[in-house]
Amino acid sequence: MVLVAAVVSPGHCHPLWLLGFVVLLLPGACGLCGALPSLSHAIPADTNRTEGFPINTQVTYRCLDGFVKIPGKSDTVECLSNSQWSNMEEFCGRSCLAPPRLKSAVLSDEDLRKNYYPVGTTVSYVCRPAYEKTELSPVITCLENLTWMEAPEFCLGKSCGVPKSPEHGRPVDTTNNRFGAKVYILCDDGYQVSGQPFIQCLLNGDQVEWSKLPICQLITCSPPPNITNGMHNGSNVEIFGYNSSVTYKCDHNFSLTGEASIQCTTKDNINGVWNGSAPECKVIITQDKPTIVPPEGAEVAGSSSGSVLNTTGNSTAPEGKGLGMCIDIGIGTSIGIVVLGAVAAIIPLAILKKNRMKVGAS
Ligand SMILES: *[C@@H]1O[C@H](CO)[C@@H](O)[C@H](O)[C@H]1NC(C)=O
Ligand SMILES: *[C@@H]1O[C@H](CO)[C@@H](O)[C@H](O)[C@H]1NC(C)=O
Ligand SMILES: *[C@@H]1O[C@H](CO)[C@@H](O)[C@H](O)[C@H]1NC(C)=O
Ligand SMILES: *[C@@H]1O[C@H](CO)[C@@H](O)[C@H](O)[C@H]1NC(C)=O
Ligand SMILES: *[C@@H]1O[C@H](CO)[C@@H](O)[C@H](O)[C@H]1NC(C)=O
Ligand SMILES: *[C@@H]1O[C@H](CO)[C@@H](O)[C@H](O)[C@H]1NC(C)=O
Ligand SMILES: *[C@@H]1O[C@H](CO)[C@@H](O)[C@H](O)[C@H]1NC(C)=O
Ligand SMILES: *[C@@H]1O[C@H](CO)[C@@H](O)[C@H](O)[C@H]1NC(C)=O
Ligand SMILES: *[C@@H]1O[C@H](CO)[C@@H](O)[C@H](O)[C@H]1NC(C)=O
Repeated sequence: MVLVAAVVSPGHCHPLWLLGFVVLLLPGACGLCGALPSLSHAIPADTNRTEGFPINTQVTYRCLDGFVKIPGKSDTVECLSNSQWSNMEEFCGRSCLAPPRLKSAVLSDEDLRKNYYPVGTTVSYVCRPAYEKTELSPVITCLENLTWMEAPEFCLGKSCGVPKSPEHGRPVDTTNNRFGAKVYILCDDGYQVSGQPFIQCLLNGDQVEWSKLPICQLITCSPPPNITNGMHNGSNVEIFGYNSSVTYKCDHNFSLTGEASIQCTTKDNINGVWNGSAPECKVIITQDKPTIVPPEGAEVAGSSSGSVLNTTGNSTAPEGKGLGMCIDIGIGTSIGIVVLGAVAAIIPLAILKKNRMKVGAS
């Protein structure tokens, strides 16, 4: 039966008709191609079948790793009407993979179109716009082990030149001024950088240039505080820059306590702060001018009272002995009593009781 079928209609057997039996016994008969041709550097890519291919079937091969299709050679076989596979020669050659992409250069147009790079092939590069040629040849070769040789620095970033200094500042490190370089700007003492604290060498068109310089801004303080019964000499000033100072002065008949001057300084190199608080102006009371009576609640005590207020009477206390007491009678009047020994201590006590006075030891 098999024989008859083969004789009667060679090349026209129905595959299903012969399934399981003819195909296995007589591959190639009845219009089927047998085992696929085997290649040493390629394997069939689009089928898992090993034999029994109908006429006109096309099978495409792919190269094994390390091999690449040689341009112009066919990678496909076809089952011909005589149940034979078409001829196919080795189409895979040892080849490097695509040449590496470089930051500084692109593959020349001509080499870009290739995809087969057998050992010994050279490809050339062209510098990218931000880069310029060095004296090194812009060429790399496919090595014996099918890797590309390391690309030397045949393209170098274009130079932006020595960076300028902003007013009141300077670039920190100017050793690298080629494309991509980042240079920090340091502002002078008392100035703060506004915006990005660095410049970069960037591409503009096909040239490189530094990005915009930041501005070094004077660090300023808020206006100095106003004080009662006094003034400062900065009332006409609008901006109080770093290092500037104002000096306070008290009105007539008031005395100044604290530092007369404050200076604008900084702790964080960003914000200006005054180096201290403003002084205070206090009423001066003198015994010689009894007509002056300080308003209710005026401050007469404190550290300044010793120098501002003079006591009446003469001090007769021997040095180093006895107890000095200062007793305020009423407002603004003081009596200094020096008590010698324990005996005299009764006197102030008596006065104290009588006048319900405040006693302060000095
Ligand atoms: C071949 O067989 C594998 C698994 O055995 C399967 O994943 C793949 O899709 C098959 N390929 C074809 C072309 O039939
Ligand atoms: C290929 O050969 C080169 C030069 O002999 C060598 O430097 C490189 O490391 C080799 N690469 C690999 C992947 O073996
Ligand atoms: C602030 O004073 C210091 C010390 O006198 C001086 O070195 C610095 O240049 C001054 N800075 C400004 C911004 O005036
Ligand atoms: C201080 O007083 C002046 C004038 O009286 C005023 O212009 C200024 O704003 C005051 N300053 C503050 C910090 O209050
Ligand atoms: C205020 O006076 C002091 C001392 O004369 C001086 O150093 C300072 O610059 C003055 N400040 C202003 C804002 O004029
Ligand atoms: C200061 O005190 C004197 C004497 O008591 C007085 O004549 C003068 O008017 C006072 N000055 C002011 C600004 O109050
Ligand atoms: C603040 O600066 C002024 C002016 O330089 C100076 O006289 C004063 O002593 C300083 N105050 C403090 C608290 O350092
Ligand atoms: C207080 O009196 C002494 C002498 O008794 C004098 O030297 C001093 O100037 C006086 N102080 C005041 C603030 O009047
Ligand atoms: C203080 O004592 C001296 C003599 O020791 C005397 O001349 C003077 O008048 C006295 N002053 C008062 C205010 O009592």
